[in-house]
Order: sequence, then C-alpha cells, then structure tokens
Amino acid sequence: MSVRPVAVELSELEDFDWQRLFGNPAPVELEIGTGKAGFLLRRAQAHPQGNFLGIEWANKFYRYAVDRMQRWQVTNVRMLRTDAAHFIRAVCPPCSLTALHVYHPDPWPKRRHHKRRLFQRPVVDAAVACLVPDGHWAVQTDHAEYFAVIRELLLGHPELYEVPFDDPEFSVEAARVATNYEIKYLRQGRTLYQIAVKRKSPCGSA
Ligand SMILES: C[S@@+](CC[C@H](N)C(=O)[O-])C[C@H]1O[C@@H](n2cnc3c(N)ncnc32)[C@H](O)[C@@H]1O
Repeated sequence: MSVRPVAVELSELEDFDWQRLFGNPAPVELEIGTGKAGFLLRRAQAHPQGNFLGIEWANKFYRYAVDRMQRWQVTNVRMLRTDAAHFIRAVCPPCSLTALHVYHPDPWPKRRHHKRRLFQRPVVDAAVACLVPDGHWAVQTDHAEYFAVIRELLLGHPELYEVPFDDPEFSVEAARVATNYEIKYLRQGRTLYQIAVKRKSPCGSA
C-alpha cells in the first residue's frame, strides 16, 4: 500500500470526500487551528483506527505540523492549510465528523476585529451540520469574554446539548488536552474555560 502524504493540496477540496482523502472509511475527527499540532499527534497516535484532519492557517505552524507528523510516521493524519471557516461552510460534507476540536481559537480581543473570530453563528450552524448525531465538539480558551460568546452560541443552538468536557473517549485526560497554548497558559497560572457539546439530531434535519 502506498503511503499517502500528510499535506493536503487545496485542489483536493474539489468534490471533497473523506474516504478518498484517507483511503479508508474510518470515522473522521477535525482539529481547527492546530498550531504545532501536539494534541493532534497524540490523539492520532492513541487512535490509529481513526482518521484526523488538522487545519492550520499560519504557514509556519502548518509546515511545522506536517513535518512533525512525517517524523512520527503517523499515517492517519492529514494537514490542510486553509481558512477553517471556509472549509466548514463550503467543503466539509454534512453529517461526516465524529469530533471537532477547537483549542485556543484566536480571541481577536478588539471589538473592531470580532468579525474575524471563528465562532460566529453561520460557522457554528455549518459545523453542527458537519457533525454526525452525537458528534462531539470540544472548545477550550483562556479568554473569558470570548468564552462567554462561544458558550452562548453553542448552548443556544437547538441542535446541541452540553456534555462533560473531561471525557476519556475524546482523549481529554484529567480535563487537559495539553495543546501548546494550554501548557503555556497553565504555566502562567491562567484560568482555562472549557465546553463540550454533542449534536442531537439525525442527519438531514440540522
Ligand atoms: C492561539 S493558537 C492555538 C494553537 C493550538 N490549538 C494550541 O492550543 O496550542 C490559534 C491557531 O489557530 C490558527 N487559526 C486561526 N484562525 C484560523 C482559521 N480561520 N483557519 C485555520 N487556522 C486558524 C492560528 O494560525 C493559530 O495557529
């Protein structure tokens, strides 16, 4: 069997299909904004039977993450450099993700920059449609005001219900996902805010 490259080309997004991307029909998890992808690497290593896509916009971190996956020879990870909001809204097939991970999304604290935030209603609606029923969506941030916005968007969504963040099935051991930012912020003594939700509805009705 040929080894597929970690890096996904944007041209592969035309007629996008998870099975074609990974070469098998296993369940797919998506991490948005991987940074250096420490979480995605550990998650993929712990679940070799699953498929994992990481999306990272910053070229420096994207290349770091691709290189890291290659060095560890994980075959179940693909990395894509694009705007995750675009992927979620225009590319991600409906009812196809078992889990969505978003850890420390850029908070864009200035009010005039809020429109750049990932968590906005159209993106949340599209992300919910990407999840399978009972699909899991976990979010963590150190930014209290952004967290309040995220919490309201997720808990106010009629298709989502809250579940405990610390769920071993999603490798959030002892309430920690241990991303690079999490490690840095905990060392600084910052408070971290966490939420996890699942999709309620059967496919076709969200
Ligand atoms: C604060 S860092 C967190 C990185 C990692 N999740 C962690 O916890 O260590 C946020 C990351 O999200 C990426 N990012 C921000 N907006 C994005 C978007 N629209 N699409 C893809 N990546 C994005 C940034 O480039 C950055 O690497």
